[in-house]
Amino acid sequence: MPVTYRREGPVAYVELDNPPVNAIGLDIRQGLMDALDWIAGKPHLDRVILSGKGRAFAAGADAREFDAPPVAPHLPDVIRRMEQSDVPWIAAVDGVALGGGCELVLGCQYRIAAPGALIGMPEVTLGVIPGAGGTQRLPRLVGLEDALQMISTGKPVKAAQALELGLIQDVADDVIFAAQEVNAELLTTLPALADLPGPEANEGAVSAARATADQKTASQIAPQCAIDLVAQSSSVDFEDAMQQERATFLALRQGDQARALRHVFFAERAAKAPGWLRDAAAPDPTHVAVVGGGTMGAGIAYALLNAGLRVTVLETSAEGVARAQDNVEKIISASLKRGLINEAKAQDRRAHLVCTHDYTLAADAELAIEAAFESMAVKKEIFTKLQAVMAPDAVLATNTSYLDVDEIAAVLNDPTRMVGLHFFAPAHIMKLLEIVRGQATSDRALALGFALAKRLRKVPVLAGVCDGFIGNRILARYREAADSLLLEGALPHQVDAAMRGFGYAMGPYEAQDLSGLDIAFANRRRQDASRDPAQHYVAIADHLVDAGRLGRKTGAGWYDYTDRQAVDSEVTRIIETESATAGVTRRALEEGEIAHTLVLAMINEAANILQEGIAQSARDIDLVTVFGYGFPRWRGGLLHYADTQGAQAMQEGLEALAQHDPLVWEPSPLIRTCATQGARIAGFSHD
Ligand code: 3HC
Repeated sequence: MPVTYRREGPVAYVELDNPPVNAIGLDIRQGLMDALDWIAGKPHLDRVILSGKGRAFAAGADAREFDAPPVAPHLPDVIRRMEQSDVPWIAAVDGVALGGGCELVLGCQYRIAAPGALIGMPEVTLGVIPGAGGTQRLPRLVGLEDALQMISTGKPVKAAQALELGLIQDVADDVIFAAQEVNAELLTTLPALADLPGPEANEGAVSAARATADQKTASQIAPQCAIDLVAQSSSVDFEDAMQQERATFLALRQGDQARALRHVFFAERAAKAPGWLRDAAAPDPTHVAVVGGGTMGAGIAYALLNAGLRVTVLETSAEGVARAQDNVEKIISASLKRGLINEAKAQDRRAHLVCTHDYTLAADAELAIEAAFESMAVKKEIFTKLQAVMAPDAVLATNTSYLDVDEIAAVLNDPTRMVGLHFFAPAHIMKLLEIVRGQATSDRALALGFALAKRLRKVPVLAGVCDGFIGNRILARYREAADSLLLEGALPHQVDAAMRGFGYAMGPYEAQDLSGLDIAFANRRRQDASRDPAQHYVAIADHLVDAGRLGRKTGAGWYDYTDRQAVDSEVTRIIETESATAGVTRRALEEGEIAHTLVLAMINEAANILQEGIAQSARDIDLVTVFGYGFPRWRGGLLHYADTQGAQAMQEGLEALAQHDPLVWEPSPLIRTCATQGARIAGFSHD
């Protein structure tokens, strides 16, 4: 039963029981209505204690229902009936009370939470707003400013802060016991929040919330709608405002942004445990060797330490060891300074770290992750050394971004132990982990990759071997297409503005300046031998590198950084010269055309990647682009976005571009098939 209820003397107990997180679906809403009917017929009750079974009070409305029309009883009606009940309700919150779960709490007259509880309304992160009274009850309880902050950002608060805000009346280890102890007479005096007057108006707080939403969640509708509704609580009658809230909630939940955000939410969760891995036993490492203590290696080491693992960083020299130690220490200190860890945890991280050039200290590690220089010779040497000291069943992983995992694995006696674990910098922060399956990679090694991702709280995506795997291959095509637009008439700042307008936090040229132009340059040189001679190669980026413009680190790249990021006439000159050399008459390009062209280039590459089996599903490509490459989450990822446009439109757009350059713009066979069949790309999967 999703809701159970029973009585002990004057106390009724109502418990939500819908594992794993008590999402509030139809069964729970109906169960609560049944409980209310049952309570209405019971004399001599002085309280109803509402709690959640398991690890959550309630995670909010069941978002899996959002694609279908709403079915009664609706949550706002359930909560209104709780408020109007003759018997006062007490919320006993242990675990999370989020979204509709928090709204249930607000429907109770007394609210108690365990110290570890988390309470809030993250609806905007799913592209909706609180739809069961949250925008009206919360400001009546905690005031306009705090309600605006909580609802428009979606950030939940811990129990102690909830107490400080006045959201709850008590914090207790044993919430049920504390609820039993609340004075019965006091309970009868507590008003329902719906009956309280609205909060005082606060124009300043509303403008501040809007400014934050404009900056942090630009282009997203839900935060602005939430602010409108919360602001109304100070002037509009409760019942009228509730109707507006409901109408807004229902309209938003079927909109493109909410669909996209739900898609990412469920895709992220589904990625953790792909069906094909169910039967593979995952070794659970306790000790991991990381080869290379540079920026990437240090980030990986710190992520592992954070997950409670013992880490040995292997370097080649005493200087390398000192540098590795220093790099990890910098991350520990920064985390300490930002309050992400306390001193005890910092000490714990230090105690579990060894930096050394003695490979034998890694002998008992169950996993090694190589994060050294991108050179095939260097990597082969490292794996030969690791093989010599580590147990024969230890898994050996390379963090290479581009090199052929199969060629690296060939140096091993047993190449089934080799897997690619492609982290993204900074590795302790970025959530994406590409897990690369080589020709020989065993399911055991892959299972370890997925188990490790879970432990590190990362989003794992399986990728096949090709140049750049999934993410960097799409990125390379993105950059190549952007450079073609420069040749045609655009300038870097126009391309960057166009992509920011599309929803990226940064355009491709600002991003390159930040990461440095040298790595991509080295990759292009590596690819020179295999590049199709018929391809129109755009050498603008090469000219910048030749001129020593490697990005921010050299004070100049696509922009000048003498003072702050500024358009540089020298770059404009290089670009215009290149156009002239190629015989191109430059033309003005609109931002819309730029964004459309670049997104189309990425979609086409992604469709090829999917068709070739380098990615298993469109969902995986969406996760890679959102969690590793800044594709706007509210657009649902690259191929989710493609499906909103339709394969037919994609094909037509590509064919138009192919008229000028058929080699790179030929529509992917997958797009052609989907266009012919009227099918969604999301429907294609190798899973
Ligand atoms: N609806 C449907 N399913 C949900 C859900 C929800 N609101 N919240 C979690 N789940 C599911 C997950 O999909 C996952 O399913 P799976 O096991 O089949 O993959 C399972 O519950 C466990 O979730 P997590 O893997 O995320 O478990 P964690 O322990 O890591 O996190 C959590 C738990 C903090 C509750 C996290 O799941 C979460 O943030 N959930 C969403 C909370 C939210 O946004 N609530 C608002 C919903 S909208 C709403 O309430 C509208 C209302 O105002 C009317």
